[in-house]
Amino acid sequence: MKFQGITGNYTAADADALAIAVFKGEKASGGVLKDLDKLTGGLVAEVIKAEEFKGDVGQVALIRFVPRAGIKASRLLLVGVGSRSDYKTYHVASLSGTATRFLRKRNIKSFAIDPRCDGNKVEAAQNAVQGFITSQFELDKYKTKDKNNKSVNGLIIYVAGAKAADLKNGIARGRIIGESMNFTRDLANEPPNILTPTEMAKRAAAMARQAGLKCQVLDEAQMTKMGMGSLMSVSIGSEQPAKLIYLKYTPAKNTGKKGDMLALVGKGITFDTGGISLKPCENMDAMKYDMSGGATVLGTMRAVAMLKPSVPVIGVVAAVENMPDGKASRPSDVVTAMTGKTIEILNTDAEGRLILADAVAYAEKQGATRIVDMATLTGAVIIALGDQNTGIMGNDQKFVDEIIDQGKDAGEGFWQLPVSPEYSKQIRSDIADIKNIGPRGKAGTIMGAVFIQEFVDKAKWAHLDIAGTAWSDSVQPHQAKGPTGVAIRTLIKLIERSQ
Ligand code: BES
Ligand code: ZN
Ligand code: ZN
Repeated sequence: MKFQGITGNYTAADADALAIAVFKGEKASGGVLKDLDKLTGGLVAEVIKAEEFKGDVGQVALIRFVPRAGIKASRLLLVGVGSRSDYKTYHVASLSGTATRFLRKRNIKSFAIDPRCDGNKVEAAQNAVQGFITSQFELDKYKTKDKNNKSVNGLIIYVAGAKAADLKNGIARGRIIGESMNFTRDLANEPPNILTPTEMAKRAAAMARQAGLKCQVLDEAQMTKMGMGSLMSVSIGSEQPAKLIYLKYTPAKNTGKKGDMLALVGKGITFDTGGISLKPCENMDAMKYDMSGGATVLGTMRAVAMLKPSVPVIGVVAAVENMPDGKASRPSDVVTAMTGKTIEILNTDAEGRLILADAVAYAEKQGATRIVDMATLTGAVIIALGDQNTGIMGNDQKFVDEIIDQGKDAGEGFWQLPVSPEYSKQIRSDIADIKNIGPRGKAGTIMGAVFIQEFVDKAKWAHLDIAGTAWSDSVQPHQAKGPTGVAIRTLIKLIERSQ
């Protein structure tokens, strides 16, 4: 893929097509649209007048025009971005993605984009490139025919008022972030017979080698020795050995708060059958996505290694398969976590919290002072928030607010649920310290969070339940259905802000 930033007249760009953001209700009588109307011999005004195009978000109109002297493009794509006052820099990613997917279908190989965005110029270019890359991700890796065989290879970016250096920086960043999101999406999409915990660890190690991260993988013997009885209780029913993946990014110079270290911790259940508390067969296939939290950690760490912020970040992924078998954990088993806390397992399908219990404790043992864990933890969060917002809970309001705020900037929604001590009482066990489920049908998402909270000692901690947002059931104008790469952009902002 080839990216180029231009500071001059973008209509003269060396590309097959031009794509431009158009606001809702905008007329062709002024500004850039007037110039484009002239270029197309009045066709922009015509499609607007005929109400073929109104500028609604995601709406597109392709206009073919007679090539002019000095202009290579012969098509103009109008892409609606909604009202001007609601238009934010993060919208540039979906604008660019929508244009890319639309033009790709029509065999166009390159286009120039003018996002008409007043915000940060580096970020505008970055988002144009990221959207271009993430929009071309497809689920057809294992198809031997009917594969998508078209791609748009070139993007030229014009951002009004941007300097060449801003564009160059934005392009480099957009490429890293877009490719890292696709790295996460590719992992999440892998079938569970291929992406076993061992394979996930191998891919993490290969990525770490390439990106320049320290990587250590703990095997079951090491985890058992460390006392990770909670994590191991989930793995015990599977033929596939669990792996604990540990990644570390160390900056050349640390400009962050002294002693501060952020850890990203992910649920990496490569397949969740429910274990002995077996899930019904309907939709069980979606449980291949149950390692999305872990994949998010790996993709974010990849981006961090390449963006090189001046603060340290560690990543911990508990990669485990949850299967029923003669050795599997049973409802009523009692196990001891690494912190020494005892857990009565009352439902083996509430396994994500069991592996995260030891993973967050491990992160703190490695020096984490702030922890963000990511997990497709509960079906309940889908009922509460659907697919538009990730559930967020935590033990430090400032930290939670910071993530919500960065999310707003990145165009990713987070909605907080409470974790007051009254909820924690509801997971007290009759025979052990705590049990892994709360009262049936009540605050399921919160119960998952307060369980994990029991294993956080001094660190500031936030828990992201991405069960509703990690994958999309339908194709969108700017992205394929399947894994979304949610939270990566927000986490990158969070990390870069603490520099
Ligand atoms: N991986 C599931 C949660 C899930 C369900 C994610 C649907 C995405 C879509 C998790 O391990 C699970 O099974 N949770 C149970 C918890 C319950 C037993 C307390 C659930 O949500 O039903
Ligand atoms: Zn489960
Ligand atoms: Zn699960």
